Amino acid sequence: MNLIDGKAVAAQCKAEIREKVAALKEQGINPGLAVILVGDNPASRVYVTNKEKDCAECGIYSEEYKLPENISQQELLDLIGVLNENPAIHGILVQLPLPKHLSEDLVIGSIRPDKDVDAFHSYNVGKIMQGDYQFLPCTPAGVMKLLDAYNIDPAGKHCVVVGRSNIVGKPMAMLLLHRNGTVTICHSRTPNLAEMTRQADILVSAVGKRELITADMVKPGAVVIDVAMNRNDAGKLCGDVCFDEVKDIASYITPVPGGVGPMTRVMLLENTLTAAQAAAKK
Ligand code: GUN
Repeated sequence: MNLIDGKAVAAQCKAEIREKVAALKEQGINPGLAVILVGDNPASRVYVTNKEKDCAECGIYSEEYKLPENISQQELLDLIGVLNENPAIHGILVQLPLPKHLSEDLVIGSIRPDKDVDAFHSYNVGKIMQGDYQFLPCTPAGVMKLLDAYNIDPAGKHCVVVGRSNIVGKPMAMLLLHRNGTVTICHSRTPNLAEMTRQADILVSAVGKRELITADMVKPGAVVIDVAMNRNDAGKLCGDVCFDEVKDIASYITPVPGGVGPMTRVMLLENTLTAAQAAAKK
């Protein structure tokens, strides 16, 4: 078994981004990210704090908008409208989930696609389907970078993605397909999940259910990528995969924490840099 060290790969990517940010600043462009948090979901709070810390470490300017839970849809859309027009802001991220009275579709749809560093806007989702994109959603893009860092080529491999969310499962399948993988997407209505996962050369689990992937569901020598962030009974972070038993079967495996998570964080920085570079060319 080889451990895929997301922390180490992310640190390397971050160092490269820091250099590119410095180079851009020399041209008079100061990359900027606005992060909007509505309400006080504790997990979202942690994500947003981490995003700001990451930006600071790479020299990216960031602004945080901490809005009350009961903000109206119009007030939120107005703020996004202002940020859309602000030349100091190259990326806008609205932390999800939003409170129930707000429409995520409308809110995400109001972000200018060239500032949509999450790549959640329908325009960017469409570009991803076509294989012609400026931004990729951070988690699937981070997984692809990890595979590349370990010279794992999806071409010709059977890639099984478990989970079909708009944020991870669907775009993940698309990126593996663009790299010539043969892709199967499994989900909660897949009748015999184990039969499908056992066929995977590359298995990506993005469900959010701990102990979902057991040793008998993994083909010997498979590459196992665990995207999930769950908590066990002791409150410790864990993924979907029973790491201790699967690690002896897999050829490569990501730990949780320290696998995909750090890469997701770094891809947001990369998308912000890409947005700033594109703005510099305009
Ligand atoms: N909530 C959980 N993951 C994400 C993400 O990648 N982006 C945003 N905006 N919200 C999230």
